[in-house]
Amino acid sequence: MCDKKNDKHLTDFCEVTLWTGPGPVPRDELLGNVENKHGLFCMLTDRIDSEVLDKAGKKLKIVATMSVGYDHIDVNEIKKRKIKIAYTPDILTDATAELAVALLLTTSRRLLEATGAAKIGEWKSWSPFWMCGPGLQNSIVGIVGVWPSEKAEAKEIGAEKVCFDELLTSSDFISVSCSLTPDTKELFNAAAFNKMKPTSIFINTSRGGVVDQNALIEVLENGKIWGAGLDVMTPEPLPLDSPLLKLKNCVILPHIGSACIETRKDMAMLCAKNIVAALKGEPLPTELVL
Ligand code: GLV
Ligand code: GLV
Repeated sequence: MCDKKNDKHLTDFCEVTLWTGPGPVPRDELLGNVENKHGLFCMLTDRIDSEVLDKAGKKLKIVATMSVGYDHIDVNEIKKRKIKIAYTPDILTDATAELAVALLLTTSRRLLEATGAAKIGEWKSWSPFWMCGPGLQNSIVGIVGVWPSEKAEAKEIGAEKVCFDELLTSSDFISVSCSLTPDTKELFNAAAFNKMKPTSIFINTSRGGVVDQNALIEVLENGKIWGAGLDVMTPEPLPLDSPLLKLKNCVILPHIGSACIETRKDMAMLCAKNIVAALKGEPLPTELVL
């Protein structure tokens, strides 16, 4: 946990065993410490499956993940055991949307390539078409995964609901923010990418698993699409020899969609509140109900 305040929210109420290492909790540490715990505070880097649940035993009442995504937890196994699941929806939507816009512009306006060029003396002079990329003006931005809880009608936000095929063929920019589920796994495959405009840009801030990454690499290498900006990929961290890191038309970020200081503090606190509520037998602030 990253903040004293939410540490306290838990320690005031229960005994806490905390992984304080720099990276994610190692699997054997998790398995070795989860036994007889009543609540489990986890991150998207922790795979919560039947092995962990078996180790935890019958006392476990809640698994709370400090994330909106829940593809790392075996929801069916947890529900089967009558254990509650909590996650952190809504509070990171703005932060992630901001990052999607930043990533879109970084990709389309070639910001990293341009700053790199300036640093190594490739900036010889202002030049009419140097470092140009597609602009947002008059463009169509296709969004996959507008939140279903969103009350606003598509019309009210100047959008139009279209089918997936139309989104692929008509968009100049495609931004993906849907959950990874069996339905969305590799939704973006070779067939989908090949329907996109050669001038289009693909942005992903959801999960790497919604993309057939080899298919994406191929369309980027062959110029079948203009570029891609990815905050998520498969696997994470992306191995240094991945072709994605060598492509000029691909911007890679290390999964920082929700990485605003306040947002992450709020996520941690919400996670702690869910755990305390579950242990008190009260309704959870943000239970995952499927
Ligand atoms: C981030 O990816 C999250 O699911 O919260
Ligand atoms: C750009 O700086 C311009 O003046 O066109």
